[in-house]
Amino acid sequence: MSVNLEGNILVTGSNRGIGLELVKQLAEKTGEKAHIYACCREPEGTRAEVLRELSTQYPGKITIIKLDMSDEDSISTAAQAVSKQFGPGGLNLLINNAAINKPALPGLLSATRKKDMMEVYETNVAGPFLLAKMLHPLLQKAAERDSEKDEGDKMSCRRSAIINISSIISSMEKCPQTFPGAQMYAYRTSKAALNMLTCCLAEEFKIHNILVTAIHPGWVRTDMGGEKAPLCTQESALGMLSVMSSLSNKDSGMLLDWEGNTIPW
Ligand SMILES: NC(=O)c1ccc[n+]([C@@H]2O[C@H](COP(=O)([O-])OP(=O)(O)OC[C@H]3O[C@@H](n4cnc5c(N)ncnc54)[C@H](OP(=O)(O)O)[C@@H]3O)[C@@H](O)[C@H]2O)c1
Repeated sequence: MSVNLEGNILVTGSNRGIGLELVKQLAEKTGEKAHIYACCREPEGTRAEVLRELSTQYPGKITIIKLDMSDEDSISTAAQAVSKQFGPGGLNLLINNAAINKPALPGLLSATRKKDMMEVYETNVAGPFLLAKMLHPLLQKAAERDSEKDEGDKMSCRRSAIINISSIISSMEKCPQTFPGAQMYAYRTSKAALNMLTCCLAEEFKIHNILVTAIHPGWVRTDMGGEKAPLCTQESALGMLSVMSSLSNKDSGMLLDWEGNTIPW
């Protein structure tokens, strides 16, 4: 599996779990032309300690940005901060990874309150929507600047792309199989909405040659995935980065898994 990504890359929710591993592997596996903007809620807090250590291992390659995906002002402030740092290259790759699941597994109907639905929707859908909207000019800048790249296949994650980290449990077709073990009303409906956001942005941005794809990371051992998950973060992140490296026009507006397989809506 090879990773072929470059330019300015922004990852949300990067202080733990899959996001942290994505930043680690991006730092390891990309060349001089890559710069990673690792976003988290509290860059100075104890929860970002590992991320801060990682950034000191790669001086000049990782910049930590304060970003709370449930807070519009925070998203706006972060977007302004990175726009000053990206320079003329704009933003090549936005990875919307941050997400929450409430209430805890299995997320039964009886345990799910309106408050859970709204909080999950705010972080998992409204946050990625606002970030994509605010960073669109910077993605467009990258798409226009790199028009010589990827000849014959205009879209790619090297040029300009949004990757929304979704989930297989967002799939309506697969609901009969996935529902019994994990009802997760708030979470699965939020990821289904994120899928529709992916389709809408793919339509809206295709004239600008900005690719928009949703990727399911697999069932991964993290705080969210739990101990029983079969995949470790290293396998999932490497798989997804390899898939991202190979995406082109035909993949925009699709839901794929960490191995590149198409998941039905
Ligand atoms: N693990 C799985 O099996 C699995 C399966 C399918 C899909 N996914 C998806 O994969 C992605 C990563 O999941 P994970 O397993 O790594 O989850 P995780 O271990 O729970 O980590 C979630 C990350 O999101 C951040 N986050 C949560 N709310 C945020 C907010 N309002 N603003 C900014 N950051 C916020 C967390 O930061 P804090 O430390 O500040 O809370 C943390 O860095 C998510 O989109 C998830 O839905 C995971």
